[in-house]
Amino acid sequence: QNGFFGVIERYRDRMPMEGIDTIVTLGEGSTPLVPAPVLGQVLDAEVYVKVEGANPTGSFKDRGMTMAMSKALADGSKAVVCASTGNTSASASAYASRAHMMPVVLLPQGKIAAGKLAQAVVHGGRIIQVQGNFDDCLTIARDLAANFPVSLVNSVNPYRIEGQKTASFEIVDCLGDAPDIHALPVGNAGNITAYWKGYQEYAADGPATHTPRMFGFQAAGAAPLVLGHDVENPETVATAIRIGKPASGSKALAARDDSNGLISSVTDEQILDAQAFLAAKEGIFVEPASAAGVAGLLALKQSGDLPAGQRIVITVTGNGLKDIDTALSRTELSTEAVEPSTDRVAALLGLHR
Ligand code: F0G
Repeated sequence: QNGFFGVIERYRDRMPMEGIDTIVTLGEGSTPLVPAPVLGQVLDAEVYVKVEGANPTGSFKDRGMTMAMSKALADGSKAVVCASTGNTSASASAYASRAHMMPVVLLPQGKIAAGKLAQAVVHGGRIIQVQGNFDDCLTIARDLAANFPVSLVNSVNPYRIEGQKTASFEIVDCLGDAPDIHALPVGNAGNITAYWKGYQEYAADGPATHTPRMFGFQAAGAAPLVLGHDVENPETVATAIRIGKPASGSKALAARDDSNGLISSVTDEQILDAQAFLAAKEGIFVEPASAAGVAGLLALKQSGDLPAGQRIVITVTGNGLKDIDTALSRTELSTEAVEPSTDRVAALLGLHR
């Protein structure tokens, strides 16, 4: 498969293609579903990790962006706008360059991981740092799109959801059926909505015999769906999911209830521990927010609330390289300096000739 074979081509018959002639793609999707045996042993389960950091811009957003951008191009848009905690802006900027459109990105000032900001910068996005949080940015982005000739490419755009649902298709195509449980982080709640839509479609007409229980996890300082009310000042180390008023919140709650699932919260410490565990034990480096699903399952296991023997898929949503500042700030991680001498290096390692 070449790099221009993305999720639209792979699942074209399940996409709303009316009016779309030109596909804007960077070869997104078909990401690895990696067995996680160490985590499986801890959780007493058969565990797979869907590594969405392997997408072209390093997060799951690319699946939805190929659809949203193809639709915007078909509509004759010259500019697209999004609010973002970082990954959407990186993806929108890349796909907009590809489509020769101007990306306008609204970011919560000072709360974006450096790698993501760099992506928007190099792709030529018009970057506006708003002195507020993501929820403020989204309000402005929606207002701009409603009143000016720019297309909104946040996940409230239904084409984003259509593209992102392909992750469920890939999982079922790979495993031969849906898992028992699907766990993932929840921020603005578009992705859990998309996964649930994909699983339902596949269960309705063939490839899957059932749908999984959807387990969503928010950061404790930004957990409106767990608390049952908006959070005015969300705060978490997992900046990607630092969101207090999820736009698709009601759809996430429906996915939870219709799937007999749950939406729970995890602390920043649990998130960072899970990130470190995945990196050290399974060889998978994800950004903090992306570890929320792993953190949540570990917490459920610890409290005795995770049934044994389940087949579980966990989506890790973004690449660890996006936020190296957080990773390097962990005190237990360190490097050692030494003179350029084999003997010195060997001595450091406790090796003797
Ligand atoms: N994980 C990562 C790495 C994310 O970037 C996001 C959302 C989520 C999880 C949550 O997904 O919002 O669909 O529930 N990032 C958005 C952004 C908000 O602007 O990049 P969700």
